[in-house]
Amino acid sequence: MNFTQKEIITIVGYGWVGQANALSFSNAGYKVYYYDTGKPELRYADKYAELYKTITPLASPLAQDSGNTWYIICVGDRVSFDGEQDISAIQGALESLKNTKGGIVLRSTVLPAHLASLHFDYYVPEFLHEKKAVEECMTPQYFIVGSRDAISRQPSFFNLWQQRATKTFYGTPEEASYLKYLSNIWNALRVAFVNEFGNAMAYPVDKEKIAGIEKVTDFFFERKSYLRYGKSFGGHCLPKDTRAFFAWHKKQGKDMSLIEGMCKSNDNHQIIEKKYPHLPEWFSEWVRPQISGWVALRALKSSIQKKLKKLFRKT
Ligand SMILES: NC(=O)c1ccc[n+]([C@@H]2O[C@H](COP(=O)([O-])OP(=O)(O)OC[C@H]3O[C@@H](n4cnc5c(N)ncnc54)[C@H](O)[C@@H]3O)[C@@H](O)[C@H]2O)c1
Repeated sequence: MNFTQKEIITIVGYGWVGQANALSFSNAGYKVYYYDTGKPELRYADKYAELYKTITPLASPLAQDSGNTWYIICVGDRVSFDGEQDISAIQGALESLKNTKGGIVLRSTVLPAHLASLHFDYYVPEFLHEKKAVEECMTPQYFIVGSRDAISRQPSFFNLWQQRATKTFYGTPEEASYLKYLSNIWNALRVAFVNEFGNAMAYPVDKEKIAGIEKVTDFFFERKSYLRYGKSFGGHCLPKDTRAFFAWHKKQGKDMSLIEGMCKSNDNHQIIEKKYPHLPEWFSEWVRPQISGWVALRALKSSIQKKLKKLFRKT
């Protein structure tokens, strides 16, 4: 394979997020390695069987270390039912990289207050959806960068992500983390709200009752992502992240009654869902705004300026 990109990528934690990142980096021309303490199942093999073959496992995380290696940390946090976030696996992964010559980009979801104990160069929370994860990695909806120091050396893929994202944010790691939780909680809140409202109208005992609820909710919400009456919010992230957020802030004496109530409402809806499994399935994706003529022109102008600068530097 002919690698067109100069940096070496080592993915640490090869689960849903790690594999999506690995596949998208490989597809973009990077040499990609991964290290995982377990034996992860291949999550996207149906669609990307060939691309998987380009990604090389490592026996130890620093096996391909160099000043040109970027580590993408995709190790998972764990959250107990009462909302306690356990980041020991993430701490362990970062600890194993403490002698690196390369750079570290943390992608795991970590509560703002827990970031202080972690060592990394950039915190870039991941916003992908599992069903479109590989595509969303190189075309992220949001490019949010948290950094403690003035930004010095940046990997080349930051440019790619920035150019393709609909919005970019530079701030502290804690701000980046708040944005990640804000997005997840807002998505969860909309799901719980529509479901609770729909249940107030009628229980979804049959298709007619569901159609009656949809007639009302779809009039305003037009079946938009997270705004469809149907199953409760679930998956690997929303329940875990909403619980961790409200439990930690409640412990600090903050009023979390809305977010806590949302989790309770969703738990109640899960009981209804078990009774009526024909509740509509839904999955969401980011809706990318239509790019306006001005935005396109600005992007073209900036790309021409960059190319000219490079040209002048060479001559
Ligand atoms: N799944 C999603 O859609 C999604 C979306 C956005 C963000 N996130 C966040 O990204 C993080 C990862 O999520 P995931 O769903 O990929 O988790 P996952 O549990 O599927 O994968 C994590 C992997 O890390 C490995 N691991 C644990 N400790 C390790 C260590 N010390 N070194 C190397 N590997 C180690 C595990 O064996 C596992 O394969 C979580 O914090 C999650 O909240 C997930």
